[in-house]
Amino acid sequence: MVLLSGDSITPVAISEMIFHKKIWIAVITIVFSIAAFISCIDNESNTADVRGPEYAGSQTCMNCHKDVYQHYMLNAHKNTSTFASGKSIFGSFSAPHNVFAYNDSDKVVMHASADSFYETEYKNGVQKRSEHFDIVIGSGRKAQTYLYYKDDQVFELPVSYFISIGAWANSPGFPLTHPYFDRPIPSICFGCHSSAANVSIPQTGSLDVTEKYLPGQQILGIDCERCHGPAKAHADYQTKHPEDKTAKFIAVINKLTRAQQMDMCSICHSGVQQPIEPIFSFKPGSKIGDYYYPDALHTDADELDVHGRQAQKIMASECYRQSTNLTCLSCHDPHKNENDNMVAFSNRCMNCHSEINHNFCSDKSVPDSILKTNCIDCHMPAQPSKAVQMLSDVNGKQVLQADYIRTHLVTIYPEETKKVLAIYKKQH
Ligand code: HEC
Ligand code: HEC
Ligand code: HEC
Ligand code: HEC
Ligand code: HEC
Ligand code: HEC
Ligand code: HEC
Repeated sequence: MVLLSGDSITPVAISEMIFHKKIWIAVITIVFSIAAFISCIDNESNTADVRGPEYAGSQTCMNCHKDVYQHYMLNAHKNTSTFASGKSIFGSFSAPHNVFAYNDSDKVVMHASADSFYETEYKNGVQKRSEHFDIVIGSGRKAQTYLYYKDDQVFELPVSYFISIGAWANSPGFPLTHPYFDRPIPSICFGCHSSAANVSIPQTGSLDVTEKYLPGQQILGIDCERCHGPAKAHADYQTKHPEDKTAKFIAVINKLTRAQQMDMCSICHSGVQQPIEPIFSFKPGSKIGDYYYPDALHTDADELDVHGRQAQKIMASECYRQSTNLTCLSCHDPHKNENDNMVAFSNRCMNCHSEINHNFCSDKSVPDSILKTNCIDCHMPAQPSKAVQMLSDVNGKQVLQADYIRTHLVTIYPEETKKVLAIYKKQH
């Protein structure tokens, strides 16, 4: 809101002005233009999109796609990054829950004053460094991590919040013994977690940490056009031709090839890779091979960490290899929030696997009540991630614990079956 804090007008000056009708009108005009400016900020459709004139902004899509839009508001893509606020930060700012201690002498305290939130380092009780929460990364399904601006760079805060333990803990990959405030965030992070992050040097979209962010040029959250591509021409055409109920100037996703449909999701769901160019310009129909160098290090799906590697894992599964049409969309509606809805997911398995097709589950020991309502815990179990680990308090000792993420290698896991059946027996 820098634009609003121009020359300040004192109350005395105002009372002098009201005697001059012309100036009075000018004041009203200014007030109205400020109001219009604020409503512009709220309504993206009226402001120029930082990505260029071919983008319309999500707000525009709402008018004609209300259903999709309403679901999308609760979706993890929409909420994967946002500005820091009391509502968007999930961790607690009240004592004693607002402290993360590395050991007896080093700790970080999370504290709030008015609308500002800080992480403050203490060493032997003495206050050291303090930084501000500016951006929240993570919708909070599993975890949130926090970023701050310093000049034109962005850094990650040392302490993150983990849902599984309901507590603050050290940010993944950070030192285990003391707070570290100096990890710069390259724009590739925003490439997967936002819709735009313009930087001033020729953007490499890379792991380059010398990039300089342009102020006010970030679009947080993954918006409609981040997945569907620029859609101003589509919105304009459909607005001018309300009688035309067929979609123009927008990619029809179910007419894309299977590989193109997979690439649309894999661009963000195949792990951090060395980019050829920034992935922000990826749109339906683009090829992933034009954006990343071949991932030479990781070829074996069994070896890959479960975190963020859904594409490689599903493509190594028999369901993908032995069918011609399975894609991410066989199981996921990318606009909805269907977390933990095992019945809905199991129904999608049964679109292909059924007694009639002679390819139903061959484990006859499984009672029907779990068999048909939860294929998932047996065939896609949650597994510990090596990439996402947190230092947490276990009986007064700080221990590294892995976060659990569902594997997309759909296959037979005899040990998981035993666990699921044991839990079932206990309940009956
Ligand atoms: C003035 C109305 C209007 C606006 C505004 C509008 N659309 Fe559409 N859109 C339509 C109509 C009509 C269709 C065709 C019928 C349908 O699929 O719902 C369509 C279809 C689509 C499709 C489906 C293509 C397919 O697979 O068949 C997508 C994706 C889409 N719009 C995205 C968007 C996005 C993104 C925005 C915002 C930038 C947007 N639309 C704004 C009217 C609109
Ligand atoms: C621009 C990057 C990007 C693209 C493109 C993308 N995703 Fe995601 N997706 C993410 C990120 C980041 C998260 C983690 C969100 C969070 O919880 O903060 C995520 C989370 C998810 C989740 C878990 C949350 C939930 O809603 O259950 C599913 C499922 C998912 N994506 C499916 C898809 C599918 C299917 C596609 C392709 C149509 C896709 N994604 C395309 C970045 C992307
Ligand atoms: C190549 C794409 C990609 C890049 C780059 C990436 N992420 Fe992610 N991130 C994902 C996806 C996909 C998920 C969710 C799926 C999963 O965890 O397997 C995710 C999950 C997360 C989550 C947990 C979200 C939740 O709600 O549970 C956090 C926090 C996160 N990432 C932070 C970061 C930070 C910080 C960076 C940059 C240093 C980063 N990510 C870089 C794709 C990416
Ligand atoms: C994570 C990527 C992603 C995001 C974000 C996203 N979409 Fe989609 N959308 C898709 C995919 C993939 C399909 C094709 C679904 C299918 O064929 O099963 C689709 C289909 C559609 C369709 C046609 C089918 C339907 O469900 O009506 C419309 C319209 C649409 N999207 C509009 C939007 C609008 C509007 C937004 C923002 C509010 C949005 N999408 C956000 C990926 C996305
Ligand atoms: C698009 C169709 C399709 C969908 C959807 C699908 N599968 Fe499959 N799946 C197949 C095909 C084809 C095979 C290869 C062998 C066969 O026909 O059983 C297979 C194989 C399997 C196997 C044997 C794997 C192995 O390594 O031997 C299991 C287990 C399995 N699927 C479970 C599931 C589960 C659980 C789901 C839902 C989460 C699911 N499938 C969804 C088509 C599908
Ligand atoms: C055969 C069905 C199936 C296919 C195909 C599939 N998924 Fe999933 N996916 C699931 C199920 C089931 C879950 C677990 C949902 C839950 O626990 O709420 C899941 C969970 C996820 C999650 C959240 C993981 C976590 O634990 O945080 C992400 C992200 C995701 N899928 C992305 C994708 C992407 C991207 C693709 C395509 C590359 C894909 N999925 C293909 C069935 C599938
Ligand atoms: C309690 C765990 C459990 C549940 C629930 C379960 N399965 Fe299985 N499934 C297994 C085990 C174990 C096997 C291997 C049995 C054997 O051949 O020894 C198996 C085998 C399979 C196979 C391989 C068939 C073959 O021989 O190639 C498919 C396909 C399959 N299951 C699909 C499903 C689907 C779809 C669901 C949900 C409708 C489901 N399963 C639910 C444990 C389970």
